[in-house]
Amino acid sequence: MASSPPLLALALAALLALSASFVGAAKSKAIAPAPAAPEPLNVTAILLHNSTNHKTFARLLHETQVDIQINSELDDRSNTFTILAPTDDAFVNLKGGALNTLTQQDLVELVLYHILPRYYSLPMFVTASNPVRTQASGNHGTYTLNVTTDNSLRVNVSTGITQTTIADKVFDDSEQLAVYSLDKVMLPYDQFGPKPPPASPPTKGPKGEAAAAAGETSGAAELGRGMWQSLVTGAGLMAAIAGSLL
Ligand SMILES: *[C@@H]1O[C@H](CO)[C@@H](O)[C@H](O)[C@H]1NC(C)=O
Ligand SMILES: *[C@@H]1O[C@H](CO)[C@@H](O)[C@H](O)[C@H]1NC(C)=O
Ligand SMILES: *[C@@H]1O[C@H](CO)[C@@H](O)[C@H](O)[C@H]1NC(C)=O
Ligand SMILES: *[C@@H]1O[C@H](CO)[C@@H](O)[C@H](O)[C@H]1NC(C)=O
Repeated sequence: MASSPPLLALALAALLALSASFVGAAKSKAIAPAPAAPEPLNVTAILLHNSTNHKTFARLLHETQVDIQINSELDDRSNTFTILAPTDDAFVNLKGGALNTLTQQDLVELVLYHILPRYYSLPMFVTASNPVRTQASGNHGTYTLNVTTDNSLRVNVSTGITQTTIADKVFDDSEQLAVYSLDKVMLPYDQFGPKPPPASPPTKGPKGEAAAAAGETSGAAELGRGMWQSLVTGAGLMAAIAGSLL
């Protein structure tokens, strides 16, 4: 048979390749005996693959690059998160382009506002202490929300602007990440609450000088925008009071 020698050669080659990869595997095992790490969590993949109606939020996570941040924090198994993901309909139902007026920074905060910096199973929400901090809580405002629960594991969230109930569970690995569905976009009070009255124009008269002075003395310190605003507003208010006394 003419075909035998090549076949044999092929079989030999296959055997060699197999044993080589076996040795390779054995070697890498010897170097890293730790058990295989679990598949890294990917929040956009979860929203796109474990749900059919969270595409908009997945896109926002991606556009704001919050996905990169959360995924990399999830690589550290000690970090846990709960994501409250609004449905596509929730975004459609937002009144007249509510998000169009947001700056890019505000959009980032809005996305971060829907992420809680710890894992909550549904029963664990009972232990949440109001106001609950979100990933957006910090430099640019308080960005907290309130949670209320009842005996049948219904969980309501309230931002001071938006009230809604946690609907379906999208994902839950029971220790590090839970993703729940919301029928509404949570509008943060920090962005959609009543705005403080505008500060007096900085150029005219003693009011402006007072505001400018307040700005100068506090300008050296690194201040969050919220604190900055309240300072400026406070100065404006004081100037207004002083003005009305004159
Ligand atoms: C996460 O999933 C998205 C969507 O499937 C994909 O585009 C992206 O590359 C993934 N990221 C990583 C780090 O694997
Ligand atoms: C949650 O909200 C619904 C609708 O507004 C209300 O009927 C229910 O009582 C609320 N439950 C809790 C626990 O706050
Ligand atoms: C949230 O809860 C805190 C503490 O109970 C309360 O002071 C605050 O008014 C609540 N805010 C909203 C918007 O319900
Ligand atoms: C999420 O989707 C992945 C991939 O389709 C699947 O393996 C996994 O079981 C799903 N997890 C949940 C909690 O639905």
